[in-house]
Amino acid sequence: MIWLTLPALLLTMVGAQEVQQSPLYAAAPEGASVSLVCLTRGALFGGVFLERRWPTPANVIYFEDQVEPTVDRAFRGRIAFSGTQSNLTISMSLLTPNDSGVYACRAASERRARSPGTMVAVTGEGQRVKSLSGDQSSPSMVYEDMSYRGGNQQRR
Ligand SMILES: *[C@@H]1O[C@H](CO)[C@@H](O)[C@H](O)[C@H]1NC(C)=O
Ligand SMILES: *[C@@H]1O[C@H](CO)[C@@H](O)[C@H](O)[C@H]1NC(C)=O
Repeated sequence: MIWLTLPALLLTMVGAQEVQQSPLYAAAPEGASVSLVCLTRGALFGGVFLERRWPTPANVIYFEDQVEPTVDRAFRGRIAFSGTQSNLTISMSLLTPNDSGVYACRAASERRARSPGTMVAVTGEGQRVKSLSGDQSSPSMVYEDMSYRGGNQQRR
């Protein structure tokens, strides 16, 4: 048993290190932006993808050094890149509550290694994030409507 599981475990650990991403959590009001950093190492045969893994899976971008980046229609005009494919900062701007989700970097490598991802919570007008919890594979975001908290009553 041990002889079978140990190599699998090592492979998993190496795979996990191949792509790192920060931050784990990001909260932003509607219209603001968030920046994610993807670090990859090891031999890639291409560049780096940013995938939305939750709530609806989608490819957001593909970035490769010296190549024109690809950006999904829903994010076109709202993504800025800096750095290189091994140390890439991806800024997503003009966020809408619709953009809330889990975003993970994936390397174009043989193991298709990817990071656990960043949980992004975008709050609409009069809302705030009460909690971001769980992990990136079973996220939980709880929003609170601030109009119950006194002060200005905001109407939408
Ligand atoms: C990634 O790039 C940023 C900005 O240039 C730099 O501050 C940071 O040290 C780099 N990280 C690594 C691991 O190279
Ligand atoms: C929000 O997402 C849904 C489903 O993906 C889409 O139909 C809708 O048009 C989006 N709304 C906005 C404001 O982007």
